[in-house]
Amino acid sequence: MNIAIAQSGGPTCAINASLLGVFRHAAKYDEIETAFGSVNGIEGLIYDNLVKLDDIITDDNDVELIRQTPSTVLGSCRYKLPSYKDDPAIYETIVNNMRKHDIGAFFYIGGNDSMDTVMKLDDYFKANNIDIKVMGIPKTIDNDLPLTDHTPGFGSAAKYVATTMKEIIRDSSVYSVKSVTIVEIMGRDTGWLTASSAVLRADGESAPHLIYLPERKFSVKQFLDDIREIQKQYHAVIVAVSEGVELDEVEEFQSGNVDNFGHKYLAGVGKALEKIVAKEINCKVRSIELNVMQRCASHLSSKRDISEAERIGGAAVKAALDGESGKMMTFKRVANRPYNVRVESADVREIANRVKYFPSEWINEAGNDVTQDAIEYCLPLIQGEQNFRYQNGLPQHFVLKAALPRERKI
Ligand code: F6P
Repeated sequence: MNIAIAQSGGPTCAINASLLGVFRHAAKYDEIETAFGSVNGIEGLIYDNLVKLDDIITDDNDVELIRQTPSTVLGSCRYKLPSYKDDPAIYETIVNNMRKHDIGAFFYIGGNDSMDTVMKLDDYFKANNIDIKVMGIPKTIDNDLPLTDHTPGFGSAAKYVATTMKEIIRDSSVYSVKSVTIVEIMGRDTGWLTASSAVLRADGESAPHLIYLPERKFSVKQFLDDIREIQKQYHAVIVAVSEGVELDEVEEFQSGNVDNFGHKYLAGVGKALEKIVAKEINCKVRSIELNVMQRCASHLSSKRDISEAERIGGAAVKAALDGESGKMMTFKRVANRPYNVRVESADVREIANRVKYFPSEWINEAGNDVTQDAIEYCLPLIQGEQNFRYQNGLPQHFVLKAALPRERKI
């Protein structure tokens, strides 16, 4: 049989390593002849836009470059499949295209919404006695997938956030005047990535002095009081705030746009808070939105994250060949010191469209900081640096020239 692999949802630094994990592991099995890449996630299977991975990953150099390239070499999508009961035609199209290429197993690398696709395909295949295995491979910088200790992509994003924050601390502490610097961090409705900035304390930094996560109700008045209090001790105050924090007393500052899964495009809380501080507290203030840099800065990726991403991709191939389907691969943390994880799998129905929030017991009582548990949890995930290949003084990237991008027809 042949297999198909696709990448879906928001990019990360580790999603290409998972693609490599599937591709390289599949090559070890006689049962698998060809691994196809589906371009732009599930859309590639709908529009029959597949590439033979053997044609594009031809030698060790390609492997090395793909491993260090951020984002998704096969493109991505935020495509919500209808239920097969409402629209069986799209499923018939997918199955016809899979049969045309003799695909017996499909691997979908993605987050909560992508697991919805895995679940729906598996439901359809099972209901119609179609023997095609479908497996989910986790990925998201948000780290919000249930039943897995963490998600590939999170460790690298956390390493970028903490490193950048450390550089911001150095820069913003040079003047003797009072200042407030607000750093806005991604993570959608969860605060995992914002909380990870606390790892700087392991390096003896006092900043970020204030950390606000969406898991706690935010009060603008309390925020201003918190800043005034911290200013008694530090002249350069650094604040980490999650993009998903909702502000009371403030008119809508988001664009109001939503994606296909109904998620709001979140951006602007840092700027909104900057304006409030400028008005209410008489001091220098800046806001910095880390934006997409935090999910594509592969030059600062965590080696452990990248190697785990590859490992979990490989494990998915074995699981499918062992007969598993409708599952997502997971990490179980066995120990923290020394760090050790086991790869397992869980029913995707327990994961799809669900959110794993940052533990409330890891947030301090005042709701403006995280506990030592958060630091202990994050530290192992940001360890190690990749050996990077550079050209002209710049990191080299692998770019798939054929077939990408293809405009959506329906
Ligand atoms: O889910 C990953 C993520 O990067 C979120 O942190 C962020 O809110 C969202 O994706 C951004 O979506 P898009 O990639 O569509 O801009």
